[in-house]
Amino acid sequence: MALKHKLNFVDSELEILKKNNLYRKMKYGISKGSKITINNKQLINLSSNDYLGIPTTKIQINQLQSSSRLISGNDDSYKKMEEVLAKHKSQESSLIYPTGYMANLGAISTIVKKGDLILSDELNHASIIESCKLSDAKVSIYKHNDMEDLNKKMKEKGKNKFVITEGIFSMDGDLSSLKQITEIAEKSKAITIVDDAHGDFVIGKDGKGTPEYFKIAKQIDLYISSLSKGLGSFGGYIASQRNVVDLCINKSKSFIYTSALPSFLIEYSLKRFQSNREKQKKILEKNTKQLTKGLKEIGYEINSHSQIIPIIIGNEKKAMEFGKFLFDNGVHAQPIRYPTVPKNKARLRVSVTAWLSNADIEKALSIFEKGHLKFYD
Ligand SMILES: Cc1ncc(COP(=O)(O)O)c(C=O)c1O
Repeated sequence: MALKHKLNFVDSELEILKKNNLYRKMKYGISKGSKITINNKQLINLSSNDYLGIPTTKIQINQLQSSSRLISGNDDSYKKMEEVLAKHKSQESSLIYPTGYMANLGAISTIVKKGDLILSDELNHASIIESCKLSDAKVSIYKHNDMEDLNKKMKEKGKNKFVITEGIFSMDGDLSSLKQITEIAEKSKAITIVDDAHGDFVIGKDGKGTPEYFKIAKQIDLYISSLSKGLGSFGGYIASQRNVVDLCINKSKSFIYTSALPSFLIEYSLKRFQSNREKQKKILEKNTKQLTKGLKEIGYEINSHSQIIPIIIGNEKKAMEFGKFLFDNGVHAQPIRYPTVPKNKARLRVSVTAWLSNADIEKALSIFEKGHLKFYD
């Protein structure tokens, strides 16, 4: 009982979250194709990051090697997949981490040091923000995709300078101004880091990602990405020069002090990588066009240029009510609130996948049309 009393502040914190409509509760669901079943209710899934919707891959599950990669968890499948990923990014080398989040934490905190300057886009993902804090460098946040501000902040002092941006922004669906970023970085000899978790496998020639889309892939010094989004598998990776990868193997804590992903997941990723991704990419492009066009025709203001389509509501309570309305009518589109996005910028994050059929999209649009009158003015 005494222990409970000591933890009373936890209740106070939870109460504050509830009062501000920021309390999060997990739903349990089973996904299958374009649908997700939650509480026995089948819904059209517009909240999946399995963008390419590669048909299910069969793999064999052998005995797990439960160990870190530097001890005994380093199966041959890693070697093959890392070679494939390095080639995919036209880099010398690559390194797989258990998640994209851990890839950011590990790589950024390893190569950025105290005394350095990081220029980070204000809408960068939480894993980048945490990585910057871990590095002990000075962090200067530039306004979202604002090249004038980046140019200004680039003049601040730092031993080594780093620019860090997402490729496709995860909650806004817009593309970073990568071409200009690399030009500004080049002038100041700054190192360019791109977290392309949402662009990788999805855009650019052969799904090589956002830098390839802008034809500046060679100007990127360090790629960080996830295998858990476009590829629909699991894990994270970096791709860079051999010495950067070598230093990460030697120094990055989220690589060294954790167990390796089981090799069947690496084989799963490899099989999905080798599947007909081009076909899925075309379906995804078609679905994205259809859903974006339909939402605009209903009257929603859509500024995204990718498979991530946020419908900005603003007020957190209203966004939650809209999410519930969609749920009750058969669509799962998760409301996103602070701190994932700024306060009063709550939204429904609609993500398109190649799983969706024409009928799914038409049905979803008819529900969004009903919701427009009630929740969007
Ligand atoms: C931009 C960005 N980076 C990194 C991550 C983390 O990737 P993972 O899910 O593989 O940990 C995410 C996931 O949401 C993301 O949106």
